[in-house]
Amino acid sequence: MGLKKKIIVTGGAGYIGSHTVVELAQAGYEPVIIDNFCNSRRFVLERIKTILSRPVECYDCDCCQIDLLRKIFTAEGKIHGAIHFAAVKAVGESAHKPLLYYQNNLGSLTALLTVLQEAQVPYFVFSSSACVYGAAKSPVTEESPVQPATSPYGNTKQIGEEITADLVKSGAALKAISLRYFNPIGAHSSGLIGELPLGAPNNLVPFVTQTAAGLREKLTIFGNDYPTPDGTGIRDYLHVIDLARAHINALEYLEQSNAAPGYAVFNLGTGRGYSVLEIIKTFEQVNHLKLPVVIGSRRQGDVAVLFANPDKANRLLKWQTKLTIEEALRDAWLWQKSLAAQT
Ligand code: UFG
Repeated sequence: MGLKKKIIVTGGAGYIGSHTVVELAQAGYEPVIIDNFCNSRRFVLERIKTILSRPVECYDCDCCQIDLLRKIFTAEGKIHGAIHFAAVKAVGESAHKPLLYYQNNLGSLTALLTVLQEAQVPYFVFSSSACVYGAAKSPVTEESPVQPATSPYGNTKQIGEEITADLVKSGAALKAISLRYFNPIGAHSSGLIGELPLGAPNNLVPFVTQTAAGLREKLTIFGNDYPTPDGTGIRDYLHVIDLARAHINALEYLEQSNAAPGYAVFNLGTGRGYSVLEIIKTFEQVNHLKLPVVIGSRRQGDVAVLFANPDKANRLLKWQTKLTIEEALRDAWLWQKSLAAQT
């Protein structure tokens, strides 16, 4: 048992992090969570334990606190790699609290990378975002130029990629990947873990499920005058389990030291875009219900269309999405219902 490869998972109690912890453990790795629970709940650890039938180690620690990170690394001994999910992620909030975003998202990244260097950890995976592409023409490949960020949050992802790339370029004994996530949705099919938005959700699918549960009066479509077939915005929604699995492929790619360059970026999406109206319609169909919906004005900063060309990840990471939008929207609703049943 002690021979398993230890992977530090910062933000491992969060939405994408918790699903990745489960997939890592099931793939034979030993995930070690570091989370400060600023946007996650402690019961997630119990849920992970239930799914895996064994506990996962977790340190309650803010990744900006480098001395605490050093203590964790000393206590854990040999670490095989790290996946850095820990970050604040509300686009709108970041415009009002830019320093919080820069300090937290970049402070945690630089502290973690420093400790990874000191501990000679060879592999690193950074959680980036498709928002780096701005309003580029879809499908976007990794060659599509990074556009000026439209929010401090987006900027922390761009700068985070650059910090990671610069460190690898500097000759550090670290190989790294930035994963550009499109729109993760859904939840674990057990109904035990999923997204836990604090307050009113910013993202479409949690807002849909909360509206379906009667927690929100109605769903507002942010604009139906975009240059798209039905006028509503188009995004690339992928099941969070597919997204979680990609982190294992990324680690495996880094481990094949001859094949992999020191630093690479990958799009993680399905390659297919769905409009807001299509998401609503599909959600209603698979879950046999009807949502109260109104058309509102466009949300500031939204682009009309953004979906991935995932060929590079398909080819080099040997990863592709397996789960359908129907499965994702069914699992999202199952999760919302299981949450309601607990409270
Ligand atoms: N939308 C609505 N009503 C809502 C919420 C969203 O119509 O109540 C629409 C948006 O206008 C957009 C689509 O649903 O067309 C998806 O919106 P989300 O907020 O779910 O997702 P975004 O694509 O705007 O943002 C997501 C992540 C960001 C990330 C970005 C990268 O939340 O963190 O993808 O593309 F930066």
